[in-house]
Amino acid sequence: MTQGQSAYTKDKERAIGSALSIGMRIVRSHPKLSQYRYWHIDVCAGSGWNEQVGVPGSPRVFLDIAKSIDLENFEAWFIERDRSAAESLVRSIGPDKRCFVINGDNRDVLKMFSKRIAQFDRPKYAIGSVLIDPNGWLYRGRDGNGFDPLELSDFLSTHRRIDVVMNLNVRTFRMLRKNEALGHRVMDLPAVSDMPALFNKEHWLLSDVGSYGGNSWVRLIGRNMATGDNRAMGHYHMNSEKGTEIVNAIEVRELRGVSAPGSVSAVPERCDGGVQLPMF
Ligand SMILES: C[S@@+](CC[C@H](N)C(=O)[O-])C[C@H]1O[C@@H](n2cnc3c(N)ncnc32)[C@H](O)[C@@H]1O
Repeated sequence: MTQGQSAYTKDKERAIGSALSIGMRIVRSHPKLSQYRYWHIDVCAGSGWNEQVGVPGSPRVFLDIAKSIDLENFEAWFIERDRSAAESLVRSIGPDKRCFVINGDNRDVLKMFSKRIAQFDRPKYAIGSVLIDPNGWLYRGRDGNGFDPLELSDFLSTHRRIDVVMNLNVRTFRMLRKNEALGHRVMDLPAVSDMPALFNKEHWLLSDVGSYGGNSWVRLIGRNMATGDNRAMGHYHMNSEKGTEIVNAIEVRELRGVSAPGSVSAVPERCDGGVQLPMF
């Protein structure tokens, strides 16, 4: 691992922690909200541990925050298609009845998550977070890598109180947009400026674009509850002067276009091709 990648991983996990903890703390300290179950889903979960850097991965980051603020009433789903990473994650979490590791494709998983939420809460009142940390941008490649933005759009439009936190590769976005312009159509590739409408979230924070060893990344947080901008962590309101500057820097304006929400396929009984690991 290069120095750039190592700095990136440390910065990323710290920032994911900060982004998640704001919403989790609000819920924990709110007399009414804290009575509800907190729902969390990490659709690109990884193994739970970044070995080469020695820092916890996003599932552990979530669980550590929950522990540190005594948020006990939660349910967390962790989706990972790589079998060995999923097995490491099961070991890394240890026994916990509130956690589910699903070794499989994240396609249609938000529909299953919705069904589960509906057993306990009315969707529009359910609180929690969706974390999306693929290797690239928010899109699903032909090989199934990544996550489908239309699926996210569908889920967030019915779960108004569930926040979205994303860590996305700006270099991938620019490359895919360029291919689109050259006639290689990349379906459903939302630009940052498409996201507020597509994901039905009113308040957005985003980070400056961080460059690490040839790659560049941005973090985005969408909520329907206003919060401070958290400049100490380098997060700015999207509609501030700095936020607009960042959006403009990411997007090649003449290539911009809105990806309209579309239909998604029927709900499978379980994740495509996935093996569900024993639940704790
Ligand atoms: C950048 S890594 C995630 C790192 C993790 N969030 C962390 O902070 O430690 C992306 C992960 O997403 C997984 N992944 C990619 N496409 C997926 C899909 N369609 N379904 C499930 N997992 C997927 C990859 O196997 C990889 O482990």
